[in-house]
Amino acid sequence: MTGSLELLALTAEQMRALARDERAGVAAALGRELPAELVASRWWLARADLLDADPADEWSAVRLVVRDGTVVANAGFHGPPDADGRVEAGYTVYAAYRRQGIARAVLGQFVEQARRAPSVRLFRLTVAPDNAASQALTLGAGFARVGEQMDDEDGLEEVFELDVSDSVKGGTPVADPSGGNPSGGDPSGADSIGAGTTADNRRWWDAVAPAHAAGSFYDLPGFIAGRDDLRPFEDAELGPVAGLDLAHLQCHLGTDTLSLARRGARVTGLDVSAESTAVARRLAAACGLPADFVTADVRDAVDALGGRDFDVVYTGIGALCWLDDLDAWAGVVASLLRPGGVLYLVEIAPLVEGVWEGGGWQVVTDVVYTGPTPSLAAGSYATGGAPVAEHPVHSRNWSIGAVVTAVANAGLRVELLGEQELTDNPLPWLDRGEDRLCRFPPGTPRYPVTWSLRARRPAS
Ligand SMILES: C[S@@+](CC[C@H](N)C(=O)[O-])C[C@H]1O[C@@H](n2cnc3c(N)ncnc32)[C@H](O)[C@@H]1O
Repeated sequence: MTGSLELLALTAEQMRALARDERAGVAAALGRELPAELVASRWWLARADLLDADPADEWSAVRLVVRDGTVVANAGFHGPPDADGRVEAGYTVYAAYRRQGIARAVLGQFVEQARRAPSVRLFRLTVAPDNAASQALTLGAGFARVGEQMDDEDGLEEVFELDVSDSVKGGTPVADPSGGNPSGGDPSGADSIGAGTTADNRRWWDAVAPAHAAGSFYDLPGFIAGRDDLRPFEDAELGPVAGLDLAHLQCHLGTDTLSLARRGARVTGLDVSAESTAVARRLAAACGLPADFVTADVRDAVDALGGRDFDVVYTGIGALCWLDDLDAWAGVVASLLRPGGVLYLVEIAPLVEGVWEGGGWQVVTDVVYTGPTPSLAAGSYATGGAPVAEHPVHSRNWSIGAVVTAVANAGLRVELLGEQELTDNPLPWLDRGEDRLCRFPPGTPRYPVTWSLRARRPAS
């Protein structure tokens, strides 16, 4: 789709002429029409000076991206590597040519240039916070979000960096095609540590939560009418919770939390998505159930829950995949538990992710742990086709071993590890019963689709 792209470096004089809006002479010299969207930044003058000072400078020239004779984008590094070995680039793909792989191709060439240069250690890009396509492209290329900054031309920008030091040279492919328009402006302002992948995930959960609340998947009217959402094996594995203080981490709309409240637990749900906890509070009120719901990242749960401790920490079904540090999570769980208190979790089995696109019986995606998977998500498993803008999200298919090891390392004693062949998750290859539970069709090979864990904080 990109066709063959040529990157045409402007001379210092051409950059100055464009900064003065003297376009005709430059167009004539290049033998190309210059689109109106090619607008010089005030930084181009400084970069022209750098080119004059060092004709061998391969970092300061603005480059026109030409496809089949047409200028479709402009791009460039913002100057030579700084004292930390950091280069920054920007590109602007003109509106008619977006979503044709041009941004990806240009970024790929720039990453290669940065990797080849011995003096370059880090490659930085800045992207507008609402530019989901460019964020996904950047993450797909292996960049990590490191913060945000205020640019006096472009406003708030999210800052991404890629390590191109010797230890990784030759590595990351640029994946995930998109058009896009990372900030073409040059940097100003200092770094600040950004909220990273959790912020992306939070934005997406905030976007889908209202659709979840309105949809048939979570069927909140049915829940208010009395439906119980715990899986049938949970009561036996967790034991009675009446009268216990229970914290539900990553509670989403609160349906599982309130199912535990209906059993008599004093429940507190915590979720990073304010839209989710808002729905959960309304749901508790509609059900006439006492419950607290707190908006916070799991990492901050100890402070967010005011240093309280609990008899039970409960979590599960699509929760852990959103976390990037299981040791930190397990440490938080251990801190929240009273001596003798239990962690109970029930999760989707890792194999489900592996067979999802294989129709249920063929493994087509790695099931061994492969690290975070950044992707662009619009709707979700429960939005039922309601329109939701695309958001970058980050999830992982943690192995059971990684979770159990983190729990054990946090000082909890594992008492039970369960594997179940039924789920309330409507997996398309399973038969759904009137009890909303999904089971393997008769005669088909079965495997665990959920797993569960009970672990206890030692009493002393
Ligand atoms: C699939 S829900 C799990 C809850 C429940 N099992 C359900 O199906 O409704 C995942 C929840 O995790 C929350 N979440 C993701 N990352 C989080 C984090 N770092 N801290 C707290 N909550 C987080 C999301 O906002 C979302 O509400």
